[in-house]
Amino acid sequence: MKKIGVAVIGTGFWGRNHARVYKELASTNLVAICDTNVERAKAIADQFGVKAYTDSGRMLKNKEIEAVSVCTWSTMLAKEAQKSLHAGKHVLVEKPMATNTQQAEKLLKTAQENGLHLTVGFLMRFIPGLQQIREAVEKKKIGDMVSATAKRVSQWPERIGDVGVVKDTAIHDIDVMRFISQEDPVSVYAKTGSMRHRKFEDYAQIMLNYESGKSAFIESNWLTPYKTRTLNVTGSDAIMRLDYITQELWVENAQETVQPRRAFQEPLKMELQHFADCILEKKKPVVTGVDGLKALQIAIAALQSSAKNAAVKLK
Ligand SMILES: NC(=O)c1ccc[n+]([C@@H]2O[C@H](COP(=O)([O-])OP(=O)(O)OC[C@H]3O[C@@H](n4cnc5c(N)ncnc54)[C@H](O)[C@@H]3O)[C@@H](O)[C@H]2O)c1
Repeated sequence: MKKIGVAVIGTGFWGRNHARVYKELASTNLVAICDTNVERAKAIADQFGVKAYTDSGRMLKNKEIEAVSVCTWSTMLAKEAQKSLHAGKHVLVEKPMATNTQQAEKLLKTAQENGLHLTVGFLMRFIPGLQQIREAVEKKKIGDMVSATAKRVSQWPERIGDVGVVKDTAIHDIDVMRFISQEDPVSVYAKTGSMRHRKFEDYAQIMLNYESGKSAFIESNWLTPYKTRTLNVTGSDAIMRLDYITQELWVENAQETVQPRRAFQEPLKMELQHFADCILEKKKPVVTGVDGLKALQIAIAALQSSAKNAAVKLK
């Protein structure tokens, strides 16, 4: 079986998980890792028995590396993803992909011009229960979708200091709403603010409105003392409820509550396996660069809406 040579740029809290999973998968061969923090780079490289770099430019010269996960601080993602694409590597860039839409558009262009895969780390899409919700919405198993409510709250992970809760956290649910409804919202209204974070918003309530009449509500914060990650979808005939942490799913109608059981799957394993499969089989990824760009556009519009205290129309 052919193995794809892979590398990880940025091996902090999340990037080291990418490295671990690449090491575990049968279709990937972790060749090297890069982190600007020299001690961290050495420690992670030693842990996985691969070469350590502190300069991605030097690492990317290695021809064995065909694909790269970019897991740096959010404000460095676009720059490192661009470098990797220029070096001819397929790229999985973590969310939020970029800090502005110009950077994200440039990534799309570079990937397209060079015939490379570009995908974004919208991990939720790899949770089986979310795939079941999307299918139920599409096949109208819960009737017509009326609304969806997402809650993603916890304490502020203080290592995140370069973007606020909208681009860091709510962006997952923005993508989820596009994914399950298969429709782009036409306007966004949001309220955001900061209680503890010195530079960025640490709470956000976001409402997305759709041409078809459905709406989505997203609550995100870094203020709640415990971690909650849930999704409730209301249809005209039934509701579906998902706990992303336990991966439990409930379907309720007027008569009964059913809990379809599916084996717990590590979403990152599914995501990286899919990335490798897309490269090997030359197929389109579940999450495209366009999905990354659209989610970022909505996140930015949400921040603008809050600043203006008015709904913002989306193109
Ligand atoms: N998809 C998900 O569910 C998910 C979960 C957690 C984090 N993330 C994303 O992953 C990224 C990293 O988050 P984290 O929590 O691991 O942060 P972190 O601060 O723990 O790690 C970031 C690492 O990147 C390194 N770094 C920064 N700039 C670099 C560069 N130019 N070249 C090489 N290394 C560089 C830092 O030294 C650090 O070790 C963020 O963009 C975050 O949004 C995604």
